[in-house]
Amino acid sequence: MKVTVVGAGDVGATCADVIAHRELANEVILVDIKPNFAEGKALDIWQTAPINLYDTRIKGSTDDYSKTANSDVVVITSGLPRKPGMSRDDLISTNAAIVKSVTENIIKHSPNTIIIIVSNPLDVMTYCAYLSAKIDSKRVFGMAGILDTARYRAFLAEALNCSPKDIQAVLMGGHGDTMVPLPRYTTVGGIPVTELIDKAQLDAIVERTKTGGGEIVNLLGTSAWYAPGAAAAQMVEAIVRDQKRIFPVCAWLQGEYGLKDVYLGVPVKLGRNGIEEIIELKLTEDEMKLVQNSATAVKEVMSVLDNMNNVTA
Ligand code: 2OP
Repeated sequence: MKVTVVGAGDVGATCADVIAHRELANEVILVDIKPNFAEGKALDIWQTAPINLYDTRIKGSTDDYSKTANSDVVVITSGLPRKPGMSRDDLISTNAAIVKSVTENIIKHSPNTIIIIVSNPLDVMTYCAYLSAKIDSKRVFGMAGILDTARYRAFLAEALNCSPKDIQAVLMGGHGDTMVPLPRYTTVGGIPVTELIDKAQLDAIVERTKTGGGEIVNLLGTSAWYAPGAAAAQMVEAIVRDQKRIFPVCAWLQGEYGLKDVYLGVPVKLGRNGIEEIIELKLTEDEMKLVQNSATAVKEVMSVLDNMNNVTA
């Protein structure tokens, strides 16, 4: 298996490190536009192999996409991160141009690859990659739901003083403040979470989850990387090991949940073919309203991208 990670910044390098450390591929190629940056990061990661005892070979490349040829999976993390006071949507014009050009280069050398987008604004950058890749949407999708549910599960584990391993949850919608954590589908060791925590505390955790990315931006002055990188690597694992895992993923909807022509976070089955199934939960009227509201917010930013494309076309 060969996996490429584009963008050797904090998220990309963390993702490549997790992939190598867990031996998810024989070869990992890390690409960055900044001269020697990916080579340096890859060399540093490779030198952990004798310590951490793995044999995945990791190599860096400065913008030479021929080195990425025939990748099975590509993770795109390129683009600017948020600064305090910015929303993810503020990044659209800069990051759209980057994601478009990276995707075209990737597809040229790996026409059969599966593409996972991590760049922000996530849902719209996934749409941008889909338009640029011109391949089946089952092979172009975005990482956000695993990260957002990880935040939700971590907060719950703290509140309940229990292992995060035992918390199962699903979350839907866009990767922004309109995301929809679903307490009705959250369990702790099989027990509905609502039986273990009072409503006010659960509501506060849901709210904290929605702004979980911003909480880290405010602490660090830039956006998160350990959890985003590990979340993207977990998607790579599900694909290369054909695990058929059920995760919330940013997927192209064509009528599911009554929504059409929008990239939105929904539960899917992830395996060697990419998205193998979109799972349609039975939502209550209130839950559905929240998901629709999130889809409307994402569609508004998608139309900003469509208008930019019309101007540049
Ligand atoms: C986050 O939520 C980077 O969007 C990412 O931390």
